[in-house]
Amino acid sequence: MTLVHRVLFPHPIESLEEYLERGGGAGLEAARRRSPDAIVAEVEASGLRGRGGAGFPTGRKWRTVVENRSPVEPSMVVVNGAEGEPGTFKDRAIVRSDPYQVVEGALVAARAVGADRVIFALKRSFRTEVSRLRMAVEEFRAAEFVAGVELEVFEGPGEYLYGEETALLEAIDGRHPFPRIAPPYRRGVDEVFATTADARSAADGSGLAAHVEMAGPTGATGAAPTLVNNLETIANVPRILDRGASWFRTEGTDQSPGTIVCTITGCTRRHGVGEVPMGTPLREVIEAIGGGARPGRRIKAVLPGVANALIPEALLDTPASYEAMAGAGSGLGSCGFIVIDDSVDLVALAAGVSRFLAVESCGQCTPCKQDGLALAEHLVRLSASDIHGRDLVPAVTALLSTVANEARCYLASQHQTVVGSVFERFADEPAAHASGRAAGVDPELVAEVVDISDGVAVLDERHRDKQPDWTYGAEYSGKAPADLMDEHRSHRP
Ligand SMILES: Cc1cc2nc3c(=O)[nH]c(=O)nc-3n(C[C@H](O)[C@H](O)[C@H](O)COP(=O)(O)O)c2cc1C
Ligand code: SF4
Repeated sequence: MTLVHRVLFPHPIESLEEYLERGGGAGLEAARRRSPDAIVAEVEASGLRGRGGAGFPTGRKWRTVVENRSPVEPSMVVVNGAEGEPGTFKDRAIVRSDPYQVVEGALVAARAVGADRVIFALKRSFRTEVSRLRMAVEEFRAAEFVAGVELEVFEGPGEYLYGEETALLEAIDGRHPFPRIAPPYRRGVDEVFATTADARSAADGSGLAAHVEMAGPTGATGAAPTLVNNLETIANVPRILDRGASWFRTEGTDQSPGTIVCTITGCTRRHGVGEVPMGTPLREVIEAIGGGARPGRRIKAVLPGVANALIPEALLDTPASYEAMAGAGSGLGSCGFIVIDDSVDLVALAAGVSRFLAVESCGQCTPCKQDGLALAEHLVRLSASDIHGRDLVPAVTALLSTVANEARCYLASQHQTVVGSVFERFADEPAAHASGRAAGVDPELVAEVVDISDGVAVLDERHRDKQPDWTYGAEYSGKAPADLMDEHRSHRP
């Protein structure tokens, strides 16, 4: 199987001039010849689905923003390049290879939804990507391609939750990356704190991010909705406008059209990022990008990030499409696949996932933080084949049933889904630890990929020292990040 190159190129594009020579800019030109409504219609016809994890239809999201636009102020476009999902490095690879398509796609989106401002939200720690994108923005400005749209590169915090779109808007607005209570279409960045702070505090007494006014024609403030799309989603837009929806659909499946950029890490011959037609069987993706299993080893399972169920080897021929992965009882997520071979203990893996999610939880919802931390502790003891292990399996099962209670965002359900999938699909491994038949092992490190260089992924080793209050001190304060909010209300990350 050969890789394709619609948004990820083998050789980086170094300047706007080179980008234009290779045909770049044609999508924006096509967009400027069309009405905003025709642009949205083209994206709808392409069937493009959001590459941030949920696969939400992009055209439908744009249409909703347009239909709910404010009569008094323009909308805003936010490009989500926060990428912190363990096992995923695709947005950073796209920016390293070609930041120009991202700027062009965002300008098309701005025209479609009537936005006068675009924010590219990356992490402060992404030095290479921040500088590549800033340079691309400067070159677009110098070439007078921005047509009155204000472009900004925002450098956010390192937390996993910063990638969650409502938390991203909070961070852009100068607060901690704590998710709001709101479905995908909400009113946007600056106005939320100014117009709803009193209502929010009055509503729950907490002063926490919440009670955000829904985007809708009846909005009391007249404030505009914000469009948030994943960076890879936006990178696909210029070619859809230039070559058309039918061209876009020449790759992929009917329900999952186009290509997708996948990351392969874990127990493979090499690690890497590559673009494949959607619908390519997972086994072929692992072969093409990762070179298959390590010598003498057998693939046991694949973890598609920390949001979807572990996929057993028997399902490795499942096509990498939204519909097929859902049919296999899992999900595509952001197409970052952590390959697990027969040398890896799955209880130790579950303990690693659990620790990552419990630490990254903000604690606005008590079960997510407290039951999450208890889960992580139980799983450490179970991996170690603790002598009281027999009671740990029912205790884990009980906590899995409560951890997502009253959860404000999806992180708590992720905990339930991923750890639950290990206990359901590989029940013999927890049972072997519980009975003392399996040797004790340490939890696996599950953390953000900070780089992939020469076929080797580097994980964020610092996460081993991260405390559940998001500090790196020697001791845990016992407080959740959300408990500290009042002390840091005006903190700008
Ligand atoms: C805990 C959590 C972390 C997330 N992290 C990211 C991320 O790093 N990048 C991203 O694009 N979406 C992330 N998402 C999904 C976003 O909330 C949102 O759905 C996405 O940016 C929408 O863009 P799309 O429609 O183009 O996929 C995350 C969601 C959750 C619940
Ligand atoms: S579900 Fe967890 S991560 Fe999400 S808002 Fe609640 S406490 Fe925070």
